[in-house]
Amino acid sequence: MKNLSSIHYVAPNSLARERDMIFARTWQHVGAASAVAEKGQYVAADIAGLKIFVLRGRDGKLRAFKNVCRHRGAQLLEDGQGKCAAVRCPYHQWVFDDKGALINAPWFGEEPGFNKEDWPLEEIHVDQWRGLLFAAIDPELSLIDQLGDLVDELADEPIEKYTCAAQDKVSFDSNWKIYTDNFVEGYHIPGVHPGFFAAIEFKEFQTIARRGLVRMTCPPRDGLFYRGKWLWMWPNWTLSLFDGGMNTSRINPLSVGRTEQLYNFYFADVSEKTAASRADTIERNLAVVREDYEVCVATHKNYETGIYKTGPLSPKHEQGVAYFQSKVAESLGLKEAAE
Ligand code: FES
Ligand SMILES: [Fe+2]
Repeated sequence: MKNLSSIHYVAPNSLARERDMIFARTWQHVGAASAVAEKGQYVAADIAGLKIFVLRGRDGKLRAFKNVCRHRGAQLLEDGQGKCAAVRCPYHQWVFDDKGALINAPWFGEEPGFNKEDWPLEEIHVDQWRGLLFAAIDPELSLIDQLGDLVDELADEPIEKYTCAAQDKVSFDSNWKIYTDNFVEGYHIPGVHPGFFAAIEFKEFQTIARRGLVRMTCPPRDGLFYRGKWLWMWPNWTLSLFDGGMNTSRINPLSVGRTEQLYNFYFADVSEKTAASRADTIERNLAVVREDYEVCVATHKNYETGIYKTGPLSPKHEQGVAYFQSKVAESLGLKEAAE
C-alpha cells in the first residue's frame, strides 16, 4: 500500500489548501446538539482557523453563520458555548439579531448608500444527527451522505440517549494528519500503550475501512473501560464506546505543526452516584491519548526535517491509514496515494 509523502504534512502552505479543499467543504462535528437545545444558546467553533457559530433563534430554528463581522471582519463571539439574545461585535459595536440581520450600527454616521439590510451575517449550513451537531461552510455532500456507513455502524447503539457531561480540549505540536494516521490504526498499541495492550486480545484486533469511516474493534479483557469499538470519521472526528457511554472528538488543525483535539464525554447515567466512576473513565481515556501525542510530536519532527523517507503500510493493520491518506490525496487533487 502507498503512503502519502511526508511533505504534505509539513509544507507551509498545506493548511491553506486543506482549509479550502477539506475543512470548508465537509460537515464538521461541533458538539452535542444539547448545547443548542434552548433558544439563544450558541456554539462558536474554530474550523482549521475558519470561525463559525451555530445559534438557536427565538423562533426555535437552528441557524449557523460565519463568526465574522460584516463591517471590518472582527470575530463576533469567542470560541465556546454560551447564550445571547443578539450578537454585538466587540470592535465597533454593530449588533446582529438571532437571524443574522444587522439591526444597529451605532455612530456610523449618515451615508446615503448605506443600508443595514445589505449587511447581514453570512449564513452557512447546520444539521444534526442522533444528538450530534454539525456545521458546514460549503459542503459537497449532505450530512447523511458524508456519514456514509456510520449510520449502519451505530444503528444498535442508543447514542441519542446519552448525556454530554464533560468536555476537554488538548493541543500538541504535530500536524493533524500525523495524529489521524495514529488514530486509525491499532498497530502501535503494543509499543505505545502497554497498559491498554495488556487489557485487550490484540491478536484479534481488526481494522476495516468503510465508506466515510474506519472501524477498529478488539475484544476487551476484564477491567478495560473501553468496549472494544473505536470509530474515526472522515475528515476529522472520532467516536469511541466505553462502559456506560462514549466519547467523541474533533481533530482540528491550529497550524501546520499544531493540532487541538476537542472531546465530549457522554454517559447513560449522569447521576451523582456515578460521578467518581465517570471522572475515572475520562482520566483513563485521556491518559491513553496523551501517550499518542508524544509519539506524534516526535514523528512530526522527522517529517519536518526531511530525514524521513516514506515507508510501507501494513495490509493487516494500516488499511485505515491508507484510506485516510487516499481521501486526503483525492480531496487535494494529489496523484499519490489516491487510488
Ligand atoms: S468590525 Fe464589527 S463593528 Fe467594526
Ligand atoms: Fe493510540
